[in-house]
Amino acid sequence: MLVSGNKLLQKAKKCGYAVGAFNTNNLEITKAIISAAVETNSPVFLQLSSGALKYGGFELAGLALAFAEKVPVPVAVHLDHGPSIEVAMECISFGFSSVMIDGSALPFAKNVALTKKVVAVAHRKGVSVEAELGQLKGREDEVFAAKHSYTDPAAAAKFVKLTGCDSLAVAIGTSHGAYKFKGTPNIDLKRLASITAAVDIPLVLHGASSVHSSLVAMANKYGAKISNAKGVPEQQIRKAIKLGICKVNEDTDLRIAFAAAVRKFLEENLSAYDPREILAPATEAMKEVVIRRIKILGSEGKA
Ligand code: G3H
Ligand code: 13P
Ligand code: ZN
Repeated sequence: MLVSGNKLLQKAKKCGYAVGAFNTNNLEITKAIISAAVETNSPVFLQLSSGALKYGGFELAGLALAFAEKVPVPVAVHLDHGPSIEVAMECISFGFSSVMIDGSALPFAKNVALTKKVVAVAHRKGVSVEAELGQLKGREDEVFAAKHSYTDPAAAAKFVKLTGCDSLAVAIGTSHGAYKFKGTPNIDLKRLASITAAVDIPLVLHGASSVHSSLVAMANKYGAKISNAKGVPEQQIRKAIKLGICKVNEDTDLRIAFAAAVRKFLEENLSAYDPREILAPATEAMKEVVIRRIKILGSEGKA
């Protein structure tokens, strides 16, 4: 069933677990996420970036909404890294139950003004709003940051008060993609604890893929060249949840699982040409990634 993001996150915050937010770009990814949530009886965010909307059109969002409405578990259909008021409005009008407005590249006052505008419209329609303060290094959909700019706890408290947003994405050392750390992975858990002490809304961790070495190895075995990839260790994700993270975003892990499974299948089945056959193991591999994540987050059985 389709529910607001806030409904999922308020329960998670109260009960001390986190809800997984998985990016979809096509039918197979959507099916993998939804079937994992149903199988584990878990709530889930099904999220689309503006890049996903460019790739699949609002028809892809329609597919996400159709799956969300049909299944027995609660699903929030969410805009990930909304780049503008216009895109956020389009998604709200289309029926999304949650949107992110990403003003993290803007100066504080401009980020506040942008977020406030989206909150005003979204709340009138019962749609939840995630905002972001601080920047993750690398590419965040259409925004590029050359370095991390960690979230300041006092600024976060002020931002939440001024904007009325429902959840806040924080920058504590993670980044998007498969190359998150040069040396030992370290997220700033001390800073997270201070933000949690200062802010009383659910916090969101972006760039939280773990980049499973077994999947990277499988992709490389079948011809990929992914070297020095490093993600957020699952143990650190568990700690982050204890310290206040309620929504955990994962995209890269599904992409690696997809690529590894497609490569393996095509190399082992040289005469295959039916896309349904080729993509079946990839769908299964992504579903396993989502189930693994749901178990780490503690949202299994919380539907
Ligand atoms: O924030 C990044 C997500 O992984 C979405 O990536 O903009 O390539 O769809 P994308
Ligand atoms: P990963 O690249 O670590 O999967 O992060 C995804 C994300 O934060 C989507 O918003
Ligand atoms: Zn993100």
